[in-house]
Amino acid sequence: MHEDTQEITDLILEATALARKETSAEPEPDLTRAVRWPVECTVGPGLEGAIACESKVGYVNGTKGWLIYRGYDIFDLCAHSSYEETSYLLLKGKLPLPPQLSSLKHRFTEYRHLPDVKRLLMSFPVEKMNSMAALRLGTNLMRQKQTYRDQNASGPHLEDATSTDEDSIPMETQPRGERSAVYEFRGKRHQRPKGVERGLRGAEGLASCYHIIAGVSSIAGAVARLREGHLPIEPDPNLSHAGNLIYMMSGRKPTPVEERVMDIALILHADHGMNASTFAALVVASTLSDIYFSVGAGIAALNGPLHGGANEQVLYQLEEIGSPDNVDEWFDAARRQKRKIAGFGHRVYKAYDPRARILKPLAHYLARTNDRARHLLEIAEVLEKKVATSFGDERGIFPNVDYYSGIVYGALNIPPYMFTTVFAVSRTAGWTARLREYLRKNRIFRPRGVYTGTFDREYTPMEDR
Ligand SMILES: CC(C)(COP(=O)(O)OP(=O)(O)OC[C@H]1O[C@@H](n2cnc3c(N)ncnc32)[C@H](O)[C@@H]1OP(=O)(O)O)[C@@H](O)C(=O)NCCC(=O)NCCS
Repeated sequence: MHEDTQEITDLILEATALARKETSAEPEPDLTRAVRWPVECTVGPGLEGAIACESKVGYVNGTKGWLIYRGYDIFDLCAHSSYEETSYLLLKGKLPLPPQLSSLKHRFTEYRHLPDVKRLLMSFPVEKMNSMAALRLGTNLMRQKQTYRDQNASGPHLEDATSTDEDSIPMETQPRGERSAVYEFRGKRHQRPKGVERGLRGAEGLASCYHIIAGVSSIAGAVARLREGHLPIEPDPNLSHAGNLIYMMSGRKPTPVEERVMDIALILHADHGMNASTFAALVVASTLSDIYFSVGAGIAALNGPLHGGANEQVLYQLEEIGSPDNVDEWFDAARRQKRKIAGFGHRVYKAYDPRARILKPLAHYLARTNDRARHLLEIAEVLEKKVATSFGDERGIFPNVDYYSGIVYGALNIPPYMFTTVFAVSRTAGWTARLREYLRKNRIFRPRGVYTGTFDREYTPMEDR
């Protein structure tokens, strides 16, 4: 292992030791045993407390601040695993053997290569679009025109929609920073990778999960480049998923430390119980729509400032505060205005979010050599203390995953408008793993709403109103 990245691993191990000292990890009986349907539970607004389904993918113990994927503690995965291995684990339920991991990496390398999708993306005004909207558009372009039913029929294939002018694909093959196109001419029509379907069942289903996990990183890279007025960059087959994400967004090969930090951030955000975006994705999948629409629904839900959109808001919040000296005044005004403090609080965690336990030391590490990160971190720490003393432990309002991730991403030179997009790139592994699992025993989601309107109104024709 590289000397500098060993320092990062040591930080994770320290955070692990502290977490294990401060909190225990026993499972909650009601949330960790097989469900006997129909289940009785107390449900609050926003389906709080509702049991939507069983899952073996991952578990969040919000009282203890404990997160596991497939039985493995998130701290151990961050210390020792990679995003590629974690994706395999989430999807297949076990750690890969060396040939299995190398086969998955090979697939990712193949599936990151999306010239047609990128070219189509460039026909939209991506530079003016919200990056999450552009990412969602990209997943639609990966999907093209077929529906779940089409995939079982021998109808026209995806490539039909992209076959108009394949001979001219503007693509910057080397990141030289030109604003004009470096054209790469390809005579052969690009074929959809073998085995990739839109549905989720069977071996093809697994391939479509890999396809979209790898694909969203390329789309995110293209979106970041297009937003800055540059052409998308081809992925580098020699870089990891994390390394490629930084490279495709910035055009700059990451240092080993940057690559390792991004890898940890991707692992940390890969899955998180039945959160809003996962549920949104599951609802869409349960109609037997397809994986691309389902992931698109997840992206849409993640975008909101109460969910993944909070990481970007945290940065603006820290910028608005401007200095550690302004925290008290800013906080009092925010409370008077009943503003939510971005990056704090969680529906499930009533303890310190384990992901924040990892991201905070990473932010500190990067801030050693980054003045801006150091400045933001100083404000963030004063605000964290202020929130802790004002709300107290009993309210259970602690920093969540989004509080320190923005500082980390900023120190990796990722622009704030891409923060939530990077989150979505990572979460695609969790979404697809849970969709695949749910569809094995699919039942369409259809809760009831309670009607509280009036009855017996008589229709008045327009002229009599
Ligand atoms: C995440 C979040 C949506 C959870 O919402 P929830 O489970 O519905 O909890 P509520 O919004 O009902 O909050 C419960 C109480 O804590 C308070 N609270 C929760 N988060 C708060 C925050 N970030 N700032 C200030 N007060 C907060 C609420 O005002 C409420 O107080 P009240 O009982 O006096 O009315 C909420 O904590 C929030 O909006 N956080 C900020 C956005 C954020 O960081 N999101 C990322 C989550 S990973």
